[in-house]
Amino acid sequence: MAQKRQSWNSRFGLILAMAGGAVGLGNFLRFPIQAIQNGGGAFIIPYLVSFILLGLPLTMIEWSTGKLGGLYGHHSPPMIMQKLDHHVYWRYIGAIGLFSSIIISSYYCFIESWIFSYMLHSLFGTFNGMTELQISEFFDRYLDLSISVSGIPFDTFISFVFCLGLNIFILSKGISGGIERVAKICMPLLFIFGIFLVIKSFTLKAGEDGAIFDGTLGLNFLWTPQFDSLTNPKVWLAAAGQVFFTLSLGMGAIQTYASYLKKEEDVALSSLTSAFTNEFTEVILGSSIIIPISIGYFGIDKVIELTQSGGFGLGFRTMPFLFEQWGTVLSTLAGVAFFGLLFFAGITSTLSIIQPTVAYLSKSYDWSQKKSSYITGTFVFFLALPCVLFFDKGVFDEYDYWGGTMSLFLFAMFEAIAFSWVMGIDKGWALINGYANIRIPKFFKYVLKYVTPTMLILIFISALIKPMNDDWSLISIHGWELDNSAIIAELMHKGMAPDDPNIAYIDGARLYLLFLIISIWLTIYITIRVRKKRIQTKRSESTI
Ligand code: ALA
Repeated sequence: MAQKRQSWNSRFGLILAMAGGAVGLGNFLRFPIQAIQNGGGAFIIPYLVSFILLGLPLTMIEWSTGKLGGLYGHHSPPMIMQKLDHHVYWRYIGAIGLFSSIIISSYYCFIESWIFSYMLHSLFGTFNGMTELQISEFFDRYLDLSISVSGIPFDTFISFVFCLGLNIFILSKGISGGIERVAKICMPLLFIFGIFLVIKSFTLKAGEDGAIFDGTLGLNFLWTPQFDSLTNPKVWLAAAGQVFFTLSLGMGAIQTYASYLKKEEDVALSSLTSAFTNEFTEVILGSSIIIPISIGYFGIDKVIELTQSGGFGLGFRTMPFLFEQWGTVLSTLAGVAFFGLLFFAGITSTLSIIQPTVAYLSKSYDWSQKKSSYITGTFVFFLALPCVLFFDKGVFDEYDYWGGTMSLFLFAMFEAIAFSWVMGIDKGWALINGYANIRIPKFFKYVLKYVTPTMLILIFISALIKPMNDDWSLISIHGWELDNSAIIAELMHKGMAPDDPNIAYIDGARLYLLFLIISIWLTIYITIRVRKKRIQTKRSESTI
């Protein structure tokens, strides 16, 4: 039986859900770290330019193509991509978007579960009286599954299963009954918690509550532009990567949500509203919590040092200790607000990242939203297992590198080419502007056609052959030695000792990921064959 087409209840709900999908850990944990690692003010200009030349055009592409697919009953990246051009290979290319979404779902749910635990620990006062070192060690113990930090056996694992289960339960309630309803509750709470923390960080004074510097020192570090960064490809790559992650581009999430729009609904204004809501949250709230508070207590140099090894861990290792300086009541409130904000941001994002797979299964096998949600949940669980069990063996980073970074660029590159050159920019422009409540400046038509695809191709090539020390001069006296993070170097484990025990885990994770993409392609192949057979049978029956 064909499933009933789902849709959003209201435009407000749609924008909240879209913005909720975009506003996530990327805004509050990843952005501050990227900004600090790439020189503070040096990062901001490439970031804003990437937002305008890559972020906004791709947001419009994903919204408009998602809506187009939805009008034909397609809600997941493979089928939506095929609507741009009827060749079946676009469906296989669309599988890359589905691949990213399911990989990100798995490790993102795991981080969400740390946040959930930290929110409870803040509420129950676990961190009260702990030293900086003890709080940092608490995080290491938390990630070691053989140790229980709360006294409940396997607490890290239980928290993960709970968070994944919660996501799946909400998704099983559908687009308007689950996702939209949760966005309407979580987004306002997130802003209330965020504003409370921003006020605290802006009013942080040197000499008060143990702070060494004013909170404004961190803000100046971030907001004093440094123009020399404009010629540094490393900073450009980091900025473009952040724009992708924060706007949820290249992971099928936006396309899938937009596919539940009705024919007469606007894309232009709604897509810009959700993108700007995300940017407001990132640039205003995201930059005004971790950076000013941690720099206020540790100073710029120590925070830079912490981010070199910190990654997503910085907020977990340092923030509970810094809140402790504000006294028992305020530290409890601040801890719950900080981890609560992250949790609400996280869950609205995971819902958007898991839904493409739910929609794919529902369409391919004609399953209900509920059944598809539970089956997707089971897949995500098994996919996340290696990441949860072997987190410290490099499996997490492997998932993030291939599923959460490289495949986003690759899929977005294909989307931009398909939109502007295969389907054609005139048709694409008409899709963006049909039923629009505002006129998008014509400038973007040229950006969509020339600038965005070119930038994406350049980014992809740069990622493939990134040279050591970012020395891009072709006639370098050092030759063209690959950087350890270049795709080719990553594949060859460059930078790792040949007898490094983690190599076996990393190769295992890669095989697992390879198996995943091949399985998705196989399901596409089988679905196409089955459909062809059905059509042939129908035809031969009607000629008899
Ligand atoms: N856009 C989501 C985030 O920023 C994935 O976390």
